[in-house]
Amino acid sequence: MGGIFGFVCREPRDLSTVNVGLSRLIYRGYDGAGMTWLNDSLEVTKALGDVSKTPLKVNGKSKVALGHTRYASRGWPTLENTHPLLDCNKKIAVVMDGIIDDYEEIRERLVKQGHKFTSTTDAEVIPHLLEGSRDYLKSAIDIISRVRGIYSFAFIVEGMDKAFVASAGQPIMIGLGDCKYISSDLPSLTGFAENAVILPENSVAEVTPEGVKVYDININVLSPQIKRVKYKEEIVDKGGFPHYMLKEVYDIPSCLVNSYTSLMEKYLSLAAMIVYGAKNIYVIGNGTSLHAGLISYYYFSEVGINANVVSAAEFPYYALQNISTGSVIIAISQSGETSDVIRSIKMAKQRGAVIVGVTNSVGSRLALESNIYLPITAGPELAVPATKTFTSTLVVLRTLSLYTGLNSGKKDRKDLEAFEKDLEELSKQIYTSLPQIEKQAEDAISKVEKDSLYITSSGINFPVALEGALKFKEAALAHAEGIQLGELLHGPIALTNKGYPIIIIKPSEEQAFDLYNKVVKSLSDRGSPIISVSPEGSVKSVETSRDLSPIANVVPLQLMAYKLGVKRGLPIDTPQGLVKAVVS
Ligand code: F6R
Repeated sequence: MGGIFGFVCREPRDLSTVNVGLSRLIYRGYDGAGMTWLNDSLEVTKALGDVSKTPLKVNGKSKVALGHTRYASRGWPTLENTHPLLDCNKKIAVVMDGIIDDYEEIRERLVKQGHKFTSTTDAEVIPHLLEGSRDYLKSAIDIISRVRGIYSFAFIVEGMDKAFVASAGQPIMIGLGDCKYISSDLPSLTGFAENAVILPENSVAEVTPEGVKVYDININVLSPQIKRVKYKEEIVDKGGFPHYMLKEVYDIPSCLVNSYTSLMEKYLSLAAMIVYGAKNIYVIGNGTSLHAGLISYYYFSEVGINANVVSAAEFPYYALQNISTGSVIIAISQSGETSDVIRSIKMAKQRGAVIVGVTNSVGSRLALESNIYLPITAGPELAVPATKTFTSTLVVLRTLSLYTGLNSGKKDRKDLEAFEKDLEELSKQIYTSLPQIEKQAEDAISKVEKDSLYITSSGINFPVALEGALKFKEAALAHAEGIQLGELLHGPIALTNKGYPIIIIKPSEEQAFDLYNKVVKSLSDRGSPIISVSPEGSVKSVETSRDLSPIANVVPLQLMAYKLGVKRGLPIDTPQGLVKAVVS
């Protein structure tokens, strides 16, 4: 798995261009990187580690080049397993993103035929399958038709000033600029191309300096979707911040408003009608998206709708059996590519469910598979720990619930206007308070000596505790457990001895205040170091309405996790062993 970036040009282009593209794709993997290009012969260079920190050592130019940054999902992070991978004659170089399911059988067959493998990756079957081809286009089509899995790949061949690009479900696109730029995502094409061809599932493109020709598996020429590359350079770069994660937290105020204003009334109304008319509703997602889904339970309850929130990984095991015509799945995925989500919606669709997708990636598989989708519009998120997409997802889900409330009669247009005003105000307040929250987060976290902590709250802010705990694990490699205030008293409080830190988010529900005060007192009596998150806490969150309080409260937690990661000298944007979209 990983990220692919390359170019095909009329005139030779600097090879360092590929390093720039790969750095922008670093969130897809950082176990190793490699590049291949054409001179008189096929050249290859590889290195282990993070290419955004140590660019591949390349000098000179070429008309055709392909690069890859790897997440070691199949095979250890060794130089041999780093892409590009070559055929036996070293004439074909392949880079691949995704997973091949039946590679062991294919490899065994190829080995029997005399092919010599040098790596333990699934991707290496591709160059060997291409070896000896007389028609590379047909051979690539043959591969995507027969080889099982979800993957995309690109390859170049000695003596050919072109590249072939194939998609068997995993996204890959070709930017149309002064050169043709091949990439795994749209944002990385910023500054290189204004438009990009999105390769449809099960298609192969022949990329020459003159153009891009796309074919389906029956070798019919396709007219694929062309998308605008509309990101600003500063969005895909760090913009002066030391890490993407910090920059993306600072993006939150503008994203909140942007995500709201980008939602189109007609799609919202349609989605709301679908949700209101549903026989039963399941909200699914993983990780941060699941936590946003858990908060939507409170949003939908308030408008009289019972939404079952289930991890997309667990959904097939028990919830699927309740799905039939009339069921609605609200599927949340920032990347729109997470396998658990895609698998679950495909199964639910087969049973007649309608899919409402919520994703930050317009060309993603979730967007394509959904009957209707609502964009998160937070802009590219390049740090692996999700921050601004969480807060923007909440904006989308809250807006959808309010529109659903218009159908159920529990809300009216005035509620929508009030929400809009609150959101604007919250955005302004977070914008002005961020430097202060950052400072308080740093001070608070300097007291955390232990490698484990609790984060607790109640009601609508309980999922925020779960989300905060996830951020501590990813950014600071610290064990953190999100726990409900009331549940703390049923055993877990036993661990809160002296020195065991606890972050308490003040609940937004008045009914929970007594419990909150009781827990704070009991913890103080035990001498537990307490970090309180509230408008009057030791790390101050912005005062806002109950429905928006998860947004206000998560910001201090994101910053505390970030600061602890910094204090520990960790690679915050690219935590070891993690990748932005879990495709398996
Ligand atoms: C959180 C994180 C993961 C993702 C999860 C789902 O910081 O990176 O937990 O939230 O893998 O990803 P998406 O939303 O892309 O489906």
